[in-house]
Amino acid sequence: MAFPQQRPRRLRKTETLRKMVQETRLDVSDFIYPIFVTNGEGVKKPIDSMPGIYQLSLDNLSKEVREVQALGIPAVILFGVPASKDAEASSGYDPEEAVQRAVRSIKEHCPHMVVITDVCLCEYTDHGHCGIVRNEEILNDPTLEILGEIAVSHAAAGADMVAPSDMMDGRVAALRCALDDKGYYHVGIISYAVKYASAFYGPFREAAGSAPQFGDRRSYQMDPANLREALKETRLDIAEGADIVMVKPALSYLDVIRAVKEITDCPVAAYNVSGEYAMVKAAAANGWLDEKRVVLEKLLSMKRAGADIIITYHARDAARWLREEEGGA
Ligand code: PBG
Repeated sequence: MAFPQQRPRRLRKTETLRKMVQETRLDVSDFIYPIFVTNGEGVKKPIDSMPGIYQLSLDNLSKEVREVQALGIPAVILFGVPASKDAEASSGYDPEEAVQRAVRSIKEHCPHMVVITDVCLCEYTDHGHCGIVRNEEILNDPTLEILGEIAVSHAAAGADMVAPSDMMDGRVAALRCALDDKGYYHVGIISYAVKYASAFYGPFREAAGSAPQFGDRRSYQMDPANLREALKETRLDIAEGADIVMVKPALSYLDVIRAVKEITDCPVAAYNVSGEYAMVKAAAANGWLDEKRVVLEKLLSMKRAGADIIITYHARDAARWLREEEGGA
């Protein structure tokens, strides 16, 4: 046989050629930036395990959101650190709590910013679980009602979309009913359809103060060993009315993102979670990795796997780096 006719290196010869044949491209419009909001004034509390990420009070939030907007990032997702917690998560639907006030404030100052809210009980319960607890059991159906109240209170504040992250069965349908019942037909649902019981959420629990006080989340979040179950959860959430389905975490689950993408016409989101962020930040701080290149590579891999949208704590840095590259820097 003669020397192979195909020489793939022909298409790798120059930067311009490489760009021409590039199959996947990251864009700032892919990103959603997570923000932790809290009460009080002048609060900008660093989260030790997530360098660059803070709990912010309302006064500091507007500055942050304006920066996010100026970078071209289209959306934020809000998590609340409330003033009080109880067994029933009642601070979760308090119209004067941090998330509800933050939504109103962002919509006033940056009306074009897409505002998404995390809907879950764990940030608001004293036991730290994502549902109502009886005898150390996480109850499903009584939790749905409270999730509905939380979602409606976020919609009333002006949220564009709500994102249920609790993993109770039937929550997407329950939220859709609760929202429609109050006339919030236009408020979308981005469901954490495929959420694994993952050790990569560790730093988030410090950020949101939401670690479970007993046991773990394995009776409601998924077993990392399961792929077919991910498809089942996806189909259920879409049938119940989800507008966007999410896979979480992202990096160890690229195969799941791909598989979910192949069975749905809905946009697919990937959540590049706190532990995935912390690993890169720690290695970069030690000089062991090139942060910019590693971050852009991992975000690109999520998109290549099939994610249309990426929720990431790296969004601001990544937006800046993408802009630099465009400018030819
Ligand atoms: C709340 C929630 C969690 C995350 C998003 N929403 C934590 C958990 O389920 O324990 C994790 C996000 C991250 O790690 O960045 N249920």
